[in-house]
Amino acid sequence: MNILAIESSCDDTSAAVITNGKIRSNIVAGQLIHELYGGVVPELASRAHQQHIVRVVDKALSDANITKKELNAIAFTRGPGLLGSLLVGTSFAKAMALALDIPLIEVNHIQAHVLAHFIDDPKPAFPFLCLTVSGGHTQIVLVKDYDKMEVLGQTMDDAVGEAFDKTAKLLGLPYPGGPLIDKYAQMGNAKAFEFPLAEMPQYQFSFSGIKTSILYFLKKNMQENPNFIEQNLTDICASVQDTLVRMLLQKLRRAARELKIKEIAIAGGVSANSGLRKSLKEMAEKEHWNIYIPDFQYCTDNAGMIAMVAHFKYLKQDFSSQEVSPMPRMEWE
Ligand code: KG4
Ligand code: ZN
Repeated sequence: MNILAIESSCDDTSAAVITNGKIRSNIVAGQLIHELYGGVVPELASRAHQQHIVRVVDKALSDANITKKELNAIAFTRGPGLLGSLLVGTSFAKAMALALDIPLIEVNHIQAHVLAHFIDDPKPAFPFLCLTVSGGHTQIVLVKDYDKMEVLGQTMDDAVGEAFDKTAKLLGLPYPGGPLIDKYAQMGNAKAFEFPLAEMPQYQFSFSGIKTSILYFLKKNMQENPNFIEQNLTDICASVQDTLVRMLLQKLRRAARELKIKEIAIAGGVSANSGLRKSLKEMAEKEHWNIYIPDFQYCTDNAGMIAMVAHFKYLKQDFSSQEVSPMPRMEWE
């Protein structure tokens, strides 16, 4: 059974082929254009998807050594994401399924980040908690089964990846700045500066306050010393990263303790962060957790994870009609 999956929810155009539950190819084309603007520009993202999608799909098929005629279904990301971006993948998938006369499978992007943990071994056991952290999401999800999950808490404003990227912008670093903050943080002192931790109820997060406090902190210090950022870059990055990581892990630990769950997974682009990985490992030892972090190619936005969900949905013959349209605010019910 061969399924082609397409992901176009934000600024990565991706296609993957899965055969009987094993990923055969996973192609991702990023969009450098957004660097010029310091963030994703939705209008440019949808145009770039239009430009990339045919080549990305062709490459996914040829890398998997599969022809279109051998496909049994076409899967696509229905939401959440940017409407214009989702429309490109949705329309492409619908057209291809119609032309080949094969089923169409819609996939929820959030569910896909979580089920990315089933692509490779070791796989978490149900129930597990998944901390999904990226440029678009910050959520703690209780995963009871492949298709039974509950979002326990999420951010009320910015995603944690946005907090990394916006801090980087304030420091004059290029977009996306998260990986650069990580790089400089590794050379700095995390205790050099202190930023307030947001107090949020339950398992909710908030990252807009820390961005504002960094802005004022930089303004004040730059008035006294115009070279403040250059002279303290590594310490600022280390301190900001430490604060963000602590905010994430405090809530994760609270959820794990309250629900008495020891199977803990993380997903999303920010799970590449070395500070988060290190602190998570330390916490896992103290709390006796088994932790799961997918291979990096399956952490950031990719069609491999969409294909994994599609595989499970195909087994249940859970198909979509040709009437289906994107859902930019699709929630996990
Ligand atoms: O999952 P992803 O590729 O796309 C979204 O769904 O958003 O995540 C991208 C986000 C960006 O905000 C990027 O700065 C952040 O992940 N990121 C990192 C690191 N690598 C990627 N943030 C901190 N440290 C990293 N090493
Ligand atoms: Zn994502």
